[in-house]
Amino acid sequence: MAQQQTHIELNRTGDKMPLVGFGCWKIDDSDCEDTIYNAIKAGYRLIDGAAVYENEVGVGRGINKAIKEGIVKREDLFVVTKLWNTYHQKDHVRPAIDRSLKDMGLDYVDLYLIHFPVPTKYVDPAVKYPGGWIEEGKETISYERSPIHVCWAEMEKLVDAKVARNIGVSNFNVMALLDLFTYCRYKPATLQVELHPYLQQKRLVEWVQKQGVAVTAYSSFGPASYVTMSDEGKTAKPLLSHELVQDIASRTGKSPAQVLLRWSVQRNVAVIPKSMHQERMKTNLDIFGWTLDQKDVDAINKLEMGARFNDTVTYGLDLPLFD
Ligand SMILES: NC(=O)c1ccc[n+]([C@@H]2O[C@H](COP(=O)([O-])OP(=O)(O)OC[C@H]3O[C@@H](n4cnc5c(N)ncnc54)[C@H](OP(=O)(O)O)[C@@H]3O)[C@@H](O)[C@H]2O)c1
Repeated sequence: MAQQQTHIELNRTGDKMPLVGFGCWKIDDSDCEDTIYNAIKAGYRLIDGAAVYENEVGVGRGINKAIKEGIVKREDLFVVTKLWNTYHQKDHVRPAIDRSLKDMGLDYVDLYLIHFPVPTKYVDPAVKYPGGWIEEGKETISYERSPIHVCWAEMEKLVDAKVARNIGVSNFNVMALLDLFTYCRYKPATLQVELHPYLQQKRLVEWVQKQGVAVTAYSSFGPASYVTMSDEGKTAKPLLSHELVQDIASRTGKSPAQVLLRWSVQRNVAVIPKSMHQERMKTNLDIFGWTLDQKDVDAINKLEMGARFNDTVTYGLDLPLFD
């Protein structure tokens, strides 16, 4: 078998972004130091965090413990974090990354993403950090008249200031990217979006990859992390126990999770599974050195049903962001 790539080379810097990383959403800050340390020990080199996950202090402790113990050097790691909606304005982008860096105890991140193309009203970190979707005491989103081009220009300055090696976006669609391409000095290195067999976004992925922008899938296990968050997450048939995925897993001697992750990396789409269990951490990383047959890929492709779980509307927000 030909040598399989375990990373994607990013535009502009040529940095090697691992195809498998570790996701930090929904890890309690108090568990984060051990979890991230264990993930690095298990072999993860990409850590995908965000200010809004409210655990950057723990993430940083886990990273710095692994570095201190000589398990990795800082330059072996690819640390990702994200700019929250309340900090899109010109004067708030740099302080936002500075806060993330301070919380993590790091000098730079490898990739900084605009989390959502949704500028919302600034919330002073001294009052509440991080701001949420909805301002305290309000029932609907308070938008800020802050254009993405202003935010992106500030993101580009983070590259010049060497606090972010690469910059990118998350939850953007083709229209938002096309607009960004018309004025950017630095093209986004990556796009991070929800992707799994129930929501494959084939046309988006292929077009974005053709533009030289790497694609990262979040929520590779579909409804798994949305069961307690929405009716859609609760009622959808779990992908990990779907009979087709289970059948492919037992025929190939792999776990259902490995089948779903492998399906993604075979599209050259990076994955960032999260698990609190060390055994799962290890197997989720072990998805190279074998391939899914085309007939199995074709069968998984038939599971498409346009089911989006990280949907602002299903959270009760008055924002059909993906329409
Ligand atoms: N940019 C964005 O807007 C955005 C949105 C959502 C997520 N993300 C990123 O993407 C990452 C991953 O997405 P996600 O957190 O939605 O979830 P995910 O990785 O798709 O799924 C996590 C769920 O699957 C379970 N799991 C993990 N490995 C398993 C295995 N081998 N067998 C069975 N169950 C397994 C986990 O349980 P245990 O922990 O108990 O193992 C957890 O319940 C996030 O952590 C975050 O970094 C980004």
